Amino acid sequence: MSNGSLSAKISSAPSDPIFGIVEAFRADPRPEKINLAAGVYMEEDGVTPILASVREAERRLLANATTKLYKPIGGDPALVKLLRALIFREPGAPFGALPAIANEGRIEVLHTPGGTGAVRLAVELVKRLRPQAEIWVSDPTWPNHPQIADAVGVPHRSHPWTTADVRSLDLDAVLQSIAAAKPGDAFIFHGACHNPTGIDPTAAEWRAIADAVAARGILPILDFAYQGLGDGLVEDAASLRAFLATGCEVLVAASASKNFALYDERVGALAIVAEDKEAAAAILTHAKVAIRAAWSNPPGHGGEIVAEILADDALRGQWEGEVTAMRERINGNRRAFVAALASEGAGDYSHLLTGRGMFSLLGLDDAQLKRLRDEQAIYLVARGRINFAGLSAVKIPIVAKAVAALLR
Ligand code: LMR
Repeated sequence: MSNGSLSAKISSAPSDPIFGIVEAFRADPRPEKINLAAGVYMEEDGVTPILASVREAERRLLANATTKLYKPIGGDPALVKLLRALIFREPGAPFGALPAIANEGRIEVLHTPGGTGAVRLAVELVKRLRPQAEIWVSDPTWPNHPQIADAVGVPHRSHPWTTADVRSLDLDAVLQSIAAAKPGDAFIFHGACHNPTGIDPTAAEWRAIADAVAARGILPILDFAYQGLGDGLVEDAASLRAFLATGCEVLVAASASKNFALYDERVGALAIVAEDKEAAAAILTHAKVAIRAAWSNPPGHGGEIVAEILADDALRGQWEGEVTAMRERINGNRRAFVAALASEGAGDYSHLLTGRGMFSLLGLDDAQLKRLRDEQAIYLVARGRINFAGLSAVKIPIVAKAVAALLR
């Protein structure tokens, strides 16, 4: 084999810390296996459903579609307008009413392949527009954040997010890290439903973080993959509103994977909030160049589904009801699991009740996670990140018993 060969003497790359576990779960022949790994919504039967609003939108699309022509580089104008309305909707405002900064022309939105595409595009913009910047991510964070920074070639650092016992936010540590960062650096924050801890700042804590970020000249990137699954579609944007109130620039990486359950359609969006209209228009041109060199134009079908739903008041109302139902089922599982852990004598895990979204950390090490997999066919992510959406009335006592046996 020549030295130039792709396969000459290379060792394998590690498997993905989340989807690698899903692959192992799929390959496990034991019928009693339980998948609490990837952040996907499931019903009681373990199935990730197609939402009824999505089915109706698809029915209409199938009946009316006329072309599969390329989308514009930044996505269909109708879709990005609707996504802007969803991301920036204000409490009490009707859908589509725009905040003042939108009317000032400070917001541009691009359709990306999923939330991952949006984070990737945000990091590409950091690389192009702030070449000296480092990107700060919380410790812990979604493992793809540092991986994307590495792939783009932006140096990254981590900052504490929780107290050492991983029970609450360490606001002082976050503020100290912001103060220690170089002006011009970027911080990736989880807009709602922190992944993996489920520990979100309160609205007042978000304001403190946003004020510190603005004072230091930091660029906040909000990973908003779970909008609607914390406290509500509008409520979850309290983080974003805190940053907007300071007048600073913000990048928001949104996703329709979770709240529309459109995991395989790859619908996401990057919203750019710039200093003024001219800056927004200029940043948009750089985003389009980055997109053209990566995926060229976004995929069509999933975005058309989202546009169909958001544009129709009745369908949007139905979808909002489905988001509420998903959120309430996740929260119900969270409460029932904490109660089951307590009745198994696992100790005090009541702090999990204040968590938001699909995840919390149970604080299990690799050896404990391996035992859970090998002995009980229960699959969790590193540090015992549990996906409450994967639980059910039947699975809760089984998982609580198995976890309690490790924790006692
Ligand atoms: C997760 O964290 O499990 C999800 O966001 C899925 C993913 O892309 O990793």
